[in-house]
Amino acid sequence: MTQSEKLESFYSRLSELHHLNCISALLGWDQRVCMPPAAVQGRAAQREYIAVMAHRKATDPEFSSVVDELYQEIDSLSEDDQVNVREVKRQLDIDRRLPEEFVSEMSQASSVGYSTWQEARPRNDWESVGPLLERTVKLSRQKAELIGYEEHPYDALLDLYEPGMTTSILKPLLLKLADELRKIVPSVLQRFANVSPLKGDFPEETQKSLCHRVALDLGFDLRWGRIDSSAHPFTTTIGRNDVRITNRFSRDTFIPGLYGTIHETGHALYDIGLPQKWLGTPLGSPVSLGIHESQSRIWENPVGRSREFCVYLSRLLPELFPEFATTPDELWNWVNLVQPSLIRVDADEVTYCLHIVIRMLLEERLIVGELAVADLPEAWNDLYVEYLGIRPPDVKDGVMQDVHWYSGSIGYFPTYALGNLYNAMMIESALLAIPDLYEKIEEGQFAEFLNWLKDNVHRHGMRYHGRELIKRITGTDLNPDSFTRYLRRKFLPEGV
Ligand code: CO
Repeated sequence: MTQSEKLESFYSRLSELHHLNCISALLGWDQRVCMPPAAVQGRAAQREYIAVMAHRKATDPEFSSVVDELYQEIDSLSEDDQVNVREVKRQLDIDRRLPEEFVSEMSQASSVGYSTWQEARPRNDWESVGPLLERTVKLSRQKAELIGYEEHPYDALLDLYEPGMTTSILKPLLLKLADELRKIVPSVLQRFANVSPLKGDFPEETQKSLCHRVALDLGFDLRWGRIDSSAHPFTTTIGRNDVRITNRFSRDTFIPGLYGTIHETGHALYDIGLPQKWLGTPLGSPVSLGIHESQSRIWENPVGRSREFCVYLSRLLPELFPEFATTPDELWNWVNLVQPSLIRVDADEVTYCLHIVIRMLLEERLIVGELAVADLPEAWNDLYVEYLGIRPPDVKDGVMQDVHWYSGSIGYFPTYALGNLYNAMMIESALLAIPDLYEKIEEGQFAEFLNWLKDNVHRHGMRYHGRELIKRITGTDLNPDSFTRYLRRKFLPEGV
């Protein structure tokens, strides 16, 4: 085969795989948004069938050898083709190291783990999930060995979610972050001592209108997107010009519903901002979970929880909730309220990363075998006391609160903290390029900022890995300083 024939067959296979992934995404979206509950088994069979087809197509020997051959002649390819071949080869190497029996054992353990966790959590039932988690940890260790690593088995797992990330880079970074956070938390808490959470009556339909309005102002567009409701908010790409988000509401406060929508809108703006002509190839794909999370958090926090955004919001609210009178300052207090909590997903900007540091420390110990699963609940509680000063009263709001470990994802959590570090570094650079960024936010004008993100982050797809991308944008290596500087400036303007 000539090089151009190889490239043609390479791209045509990627496009087939892309179609299969999109069909599966649509089935998944339907399952979570509108499918009747009794259809669950039939749907699982359909998705399994597509997953098997996709796996065969991704690993078949003919395709594998095309990828290997193109990789050998990578220097003679165009810059764009180089990126695509490099990334597909990277993924293929991982896939080829995992034998089929292992993949099916892992996927079975994950799905049993997920459904058992779902039932056991409300009952506070650690006994049911403990042994399953033991199996998942064992399989994850095995996975790390099969994939391979240079220094630390945890590296192999981190790399799955954040390509290029290693324990020796991540751990000092997050421990330094935790130190800084623990220094500022007491003073920040004092500041909020007299603030209680917003409580009122906010009908769902009106909250929906508010969320629609804000999402559209930020740049979400109903020509290429949909907003629906689901039990857990998420964002999914169904295909070219089709990105969907979901939200959920609680009647007594509009804040979680609104900020959940802003978060998912950020994910959606990234997905649609990826070069659509490269869709289905690495150049049209997100860099990593950490970079994806930076794109949701940058809208949710530095933009959405700023004073200027509260001014913008306080102009919208009276039309929608005429009996609810508030001021931008009062809103700012409500949307920023800092309180140590047991639950990661409810955590504020300041304490959030402490939840992640706890999980990273435990994951690392589990993977190297320093910590037995049987001792995990107690180790979890001790770290909560150490880092947040609170002891979970039960496993439901302790070690069983998140689905990740039970469904087989170890190494995933750190990407949430990385999202915060990346976004704080990005907003500093954005402010240099758009000095009146916050004046624009106050006016409800977000287009210039979105364009900055498209230019600096979205349009590159996977051309650069996370740390390389952030260095290109900011000129600085990934570090926690921008994030802690941002928090200090925001919450302790007079100093600690
Ligand atoms: Co997110």
